[in-house]
Amino acid sequence: MNFYKAVIRRILYKYDPEQVHEFVCHSLIRFGRIPFALSILQFFYEVKDPRLERNLFGLRFKNPVGLAAGFDKNAELIDEMDALGFGFVEIGTVTPKSQPGNEQPRLFRLEADDALVNRMGFNNKGLEAAIMRLKKRKSNIIVGGNIGKNKITSNEDATYDYMDAFNALYDYVDYFVVNVSSPNTPGLRSLQEKEPLTFLLQDLQKQNKRKPKLKPILLKIAPDLEDSQLDDIIEIVQKTKIAGVVATNTTISRANLKTDSANITAIGNGGLSGQPLKQRATEVIRYLHQKSKGSFPIIGVGGIATAEDAIEKIKAGASLVQVYTGFIYEGPAITKKICKGILRDKILFEK
Ligand code: FNR
Repeated sequence: MNFYKAVIRRILYKYDPEQVHEFVCHSLIRFGRIPFALSILQFFYEVKDPRLERNLFGLRFKNPVGLAAGFDKNAELIDEMDALGFGFVEIGTVTPKSQPGNEQPRLFRLEADDALVNRMGFNNKGLEAAIMRLKKRKSNIIVGGNIGKNKITSNEDATYDYMDAFNALYDYVDYFVVNVSSPNTPGLRSLQEKEPLTFLLQDLQKQNKRKPKLKPILLKIAPDLEDSQLDDIIEIVQKTKIAGVVATNTTISRANLKTDSANITAIGNGGLSGQPLKQRATEVIRYLHQKSKGSFPIIGVGGIATAEDAIEKIKAGASLVQVYTGFIYEGPAITKKICKGILRDKILFEK
């Protein structure tokens, strides 16, 4: 049992999860303003080893462990996450206009399952605020821009929102993720269907080609898609020639939970993340990788808490991994543990 789990987590878990998130983020930002504070964090938490580097989409990732979207919705913590040893940070989901998200409470811990349920609903400060923060970042860590549509924008007009976000963030992020897989914006996931998704990605790629340089555009998918829908995703990725897929977002399934069902019912709707999502996310990665014969890179996310979890995703076909819920449950040393575990893995480093 480490100090985070034995002491810090026990204290934090006495309070409302969203308030804890806000408190921790503000504390980190304040701490980061102290001279040399981030260098000290980096000294303790970053694992520097050229064998961890990954070259993908024409970008150089210092290690394959990223922060998943939703933690730093407004691009406020990029330098801090760099100092904590992450290899890349995905900001967002950013929508064109600022929006409050759903009514609170909207984030719940399932401690017995090492899981979270959230129905945040893309609460974020909008594009302008994100750009202001991106301009101020000091570190050169790879940053992905996860983009979405505002709640008040209809699905018919969704392309305009994604296009606005793409154009506005183009100069400030290294890659894009098109999020059509959040369960918390009504109707959003129907944009994952073949026709609207093909049109959306084709439009974004057309715009991408008008820019001085193509930026990698990835698609983030839900773990709740059936095999036939995953086949469509493979076809769409190949047809639109986007750079890859982020698999997966949170699930609407509530299968195999240890938390008692009355509690689950009381919590209500939302996306489940963490340990119970792990197996399904890995299955989706393996399916996409095998069926597409590895024809596009996959960022694997869902239930990663240990090095073994990350290695499982990599062996299933992920080129990079991301964590969110594992970061909350395992604490700030998670990237260090995963990176060290990857370096110890004989199969990954046998060549
Ligand atoms: C998320 N996730 C998420 N994903 C996304 O594309 N845009 C977002 O805004 C959010 N917001 C968000 C909020 C909260 C509170 C959680 C827990 C998750 C999904 C996240 O990026 C990831 O795909 C899933 O959580 C699965 O990974 P973990 O949490 O099991 O490591």
